[in-house]
Amino acid sequence: MAKNVVVVGTQWGDEGKGKIVDWLTDHAEGVVRFQGGHNAGHTLVIGKNEYKLNLVPSGIVREGVKCYIGNGVVLDIHHLLSEIETLEAGGIKVRDRLRISPGCPVILGYHVALDRAREAQRAACDKIGTTGKGIGPTYEDKVSRRAVRLYDLYDRERFAAKLRDILEYHNFVLTQHLGADPVDFQTVFDQALADADKIRPMIADVSAELYAVNKSGGSLLFEGAQGTLLDIDHGTYPFVTSSNCVAGQAAAGAGVGPGRLHYVLGITKAYCTRVGAGPFPTELDMETEGAPGNQMSVKGREFGTVTGRKRRCGWLDLAALKRSIIINGVSGLCITKLDVLDGLTELRLCTGYMLDGQRVDLLPMGADEVTHCEPIYETMAGWSGTTYGAQTWDELPPEARAYLHRIEEICEVSIDVVSTGPERDETILRRHPFGA
Ligand code: GDP
Ligand code: IMO
Ligand code: MG
Repeated sequence: MAKNVVVVGTQWGDEGKGKIVDWLTDHAEGVVRFQGGHNAGHTLVIGKNEYKLNLVPSGIVREGVKCYIGNGVVLDIHHLLSEIETLEAGGIKVRDRLRISPGCPVILGYHVALDRAREAQRAACDKIGTTGKGIGPTYEDKVSRRAVRLYDLYDRERFAAKLRDILEYHNFVLTQHLGADPVDFQTVFDQALADADKIRPMIADVSAELYAVNKSGGSLLFEGAQGTLLDIDHGTYPFVTSSNCVAGQAAAGAGVGPGRLHYVLGITKAYCTRVGAGPFPTELDMETEGAPGNQMSVKGREFGTVTGRKRRCGWLDLAALKRSIIINGVSGLCITKLDVLDGLTELRLCTGYMLDGQRVDLLPMGADEVTHCEPIYETMAGWSGTTYGAQTWDELPPEARAYLHRIEEICEVSIDVVSTGPERDETILRRHPFGA
């Protein structure tokens, strides 16, 4: 029987979604992206090869698996083409396995210009620290009903008329409000048409194809990008991305009924990281050599895949995780990068916060309240042995098992998978998401 699994990040992104999606693809006929854009950076390590994927779903490395980009994704066609070229140069066939929804809003030059000009104009304390890829302005155009959608590019006259109107508006904002240069109509027009031509054979009715896969008994994997705490509604607003990153978005962003999402796997790093600005209650000092934050940063190689920025590091925040579990309807957790904590003598788990003199057990809404949250910690013993590469639960040091058990106890959800290294087989399976 067909079973559909949704993989989402429960923190601020970079939880290791790509590794787990790739690992799960042996059970799926297709992998679907349903939100975000090329702000995502999903790293897959398979033997000597490392793949950094932004838009192409993480099913592409497994032969025979189909990949879909749903209508909820904002599409930089030029970037997609360069990603396809890199993959194909490495011997991975993409073009005959990738299907793209014609409903995707297209990221064009003025979105990137707006994203960067806005960030430049913000005072230091107000900068979001976006990836500068034009994601926010493209979602704004979508919601305000002026977006160019992929299908618009195949009607030259209509696209030209639409683009003229849009540029009149955006160039006014760019020059008059943001003090930036205007964007040239012809450059955007010619580039978009040339790119559109190249991806035309991959455009398909994604919603209908996914329905057909399920109908014939095939299972699907929905690959979230970013993380729940970056969700436009539920995250630490306004320090968030501009899409819904939660599991429910898999339905709207791919055109499947919510009843067909059977299991939600919440990917959770054994500690926390955040790239870009915004409140982070359990943040640690990363500079002092040998300190826990420094170990997370160095051993965890916590540098952003997309922008190369250093990721901020901190203790695992269970008050935030519990919020994510509720919002996503998490069926089971996958704890990743447990090995990064190897050798720390003491670990801390944030179980709640003090906020205005009161204890709260769940992450509050919005950045202002979160900024005032003082974490309450529970201290646990670390372990001296190694978890790196462990493939069975019994191999884990007792203190590591105790750490995981405590997470299950506080969050009231089972840890179904544990990741102990970047490679596929560096994984402990307790309950299979496709079998559960
Ligand atoms: P994503 O955006 O959620 O897909 O995560 P990223 O790929 O941006 O960041 C996760 C990084 O950690 C990647 O470099 C992975 O190769 C690596 N990784 C994933 N799981 C593990 C793990 O269990 N242990 C270690 N040491 N590295 C991991
Ligand atoms: P993956 O899928 C981590 C962050 C940016 C910034 C904020 C808004 O690899 O987990 P945007 O360009 O989206 O408008 O930036 O969101 N951000 C991510 N952080 N992982 C990601 O994706 C991210 N995608 C966006 O750093 O703080
Ligand atoms: Mg990433």
